[in-house]
Amino acid sequence: MKITIIGTGYVGLVTGACLAELGNDVFCLDLDQRKIDLLNNGGIPIHEPGLEEVVARNRAAGRIQFSTDVAASVAHGDVQFIAVGTPPDEDGSADLQYVLAAARNIGKHMTGFKVVVDKSTVPVGTGDRVKAALQEELAARGAHASFSVVSNPEFLKEGAAVEDFMRPDRIVIGHDSTAEGQKAAAMMKKLYAPFNRNHERTFWMDVRSAEFTKYAANSMLATRISFMNELANLADRVGVDIEAVRHGIGSDPRIGHSFLYAGAGYGGSCFPKDVQALERTARQYDQDLLILRAVEAVNDKQKLVLGQKVIKRFGEDLRGKHFAVWGLAFKPNTDDMREAPSRVLLRQLIDAGATVAVYDPVAMTEAKRVLALDLTADELARVRFADSPMDALSGAEALVIVTEWKAFRSPDFERIRAALKQAVIFDGRNLFEPQVMAEAAFEYHGIGRSILTRT
Ligand SMILES: NC(=O)c1ccc[n+]([C@@H]2O[C@H](COP(=O)([O-])OP(=O)(O)OC[C@H]3O[C@@H](n4cnc5c(N)ncnc54)[C@H](O)[C@@H]3O)[C@@H](O)[C@H]2O)c1
Repeated sequence: MKITIIGTGYVGLVTGACLAELGNDVFCLDLDQRKIDLLNNGGIPIHEPGLEEVVARNRAAGRIQFSTDVAASVAHGDVQFIAVGTPPDEDGSADLQYVLAAARNIGKHMTGFKVVVDKSTVPVGTGDRVKAALQEELAARGAHASFSVVSNPEFLKEGAAVEDFMRPDRIVIGHDSTAEGQKAAAMMKKLYAPFNRNHERTFWMDVRSAEFTKYAANSMLATRISFMNELANLADRVGVDIEAVRHGIGSDPRIGHSFLYAGAGYGGSCFPKDVQALERTARQYDQDLLILRAVEAVNDKQKLVLGQKVIKRFGEDLRGKHFAVWGLAFKPNTDDMREAPSRVLLRQLIDAGATVAVYDPVAMTEAKRVLALDLTADELARVRFADSPMDALSGAEALVIVTEWKAFRSPDFERIRAALKQAVIFDGRNLFEPQVMAEAAFEYHGIGRSILTRT
């Protein structure tokens, strides 16, 4: 099938590459000329396991092209996926300017029938606004062309995006019941047929329910994280190991093990903004989503917890003190630093006067970019970008771990102790066992582990 993807970011590029892999003829549009040039020169703008190979293979086979040519992109695809960003507006609601601009571009150029698919995460009612934008553009040039707006939210996880897209646990498609809506549904069914071979994974629903499903999913996951973080902070006070509790409750099939990890708070481009956007939607309808307000407030507080532990241990004035930070990306296997807890920690340490050495296996380039925005030049001069985990440690009072990269899970503790000034570890992801740390003569501060030992 001929497919256009509007917006070649995390979701757009993965969607385009995976649909090309299945044999479709894919046109990826972006307004960012540098991104398109990079892709056309064989580069890849994001770190995502397996993506580079899929893109290279399909470029070589002529099944995927990258361009900034809007008219050509509209002419190309019978199905036009909108996968542009929906960042939070000033009031926390989803900013739809990019989605609506993409819709208008389709309306300006379309001649025949188009299926317009909202893949971006958009609030309930956006399908209607996309439809209105298309109609306005058609009317403005006196053109007649039929179309149908479909909602197909994306559930992939950064760091496992290709795998998630190729093996989805569900495909949600919202369409309307008009003749165009039925025709669009039939085309979507054909497009997604390869994913449904083993068993049917598609859930068909109306557009609004599909839009809502995406927010409900992310809000539920964020709720589990904030719930565990709040309990972990209590666990620290009452002498409880939250990891033992996690096992104890996760084994209940009604609860399950996923997303019950206490840590340094959730970040990334999705949970924070999607929780906020659902709250705003509720407010527009005079409802206060009390649970989600708490989820957000708990997370904002949680991002401060690691820094507070460091300050509690080393004092409020950290001038002359140096710390090592492992992990900058908001989660492993990505270089995405949007809303990353590491940025909050670094702000706290810098404000308290410390110097830091930071290391991340893939996010160093992105870290240099975002920290130059977060920090002044003088502050940035107090951050050293280390070449390896061990390089980050030398002369540091303590190691602070913010991202649970696999490479950090089984380090050489002897070398860590030798490099650090003091054998102190703040583990923002509970990677290590307090008992093992105690035996290795480390002072260990986890999240909700309630154990502070030095032998
Ligand atoms: N990142 C994720 O893990 C993830 C997962 C599921 C859903 N989503 C949702 O998918 C959407 C996209 O997220 P993302 O992380 O891929 O964003 P992104 O910022 O990585 O990419 C968006 C791209 O769209 C381009 N763009 C903006 N306006 C355009 C236009 N009019 N025409 C063409 N290109 C345009 C931008 O230049 C950018 O490259 C968001 O709504 C997000 O909430 C993201």
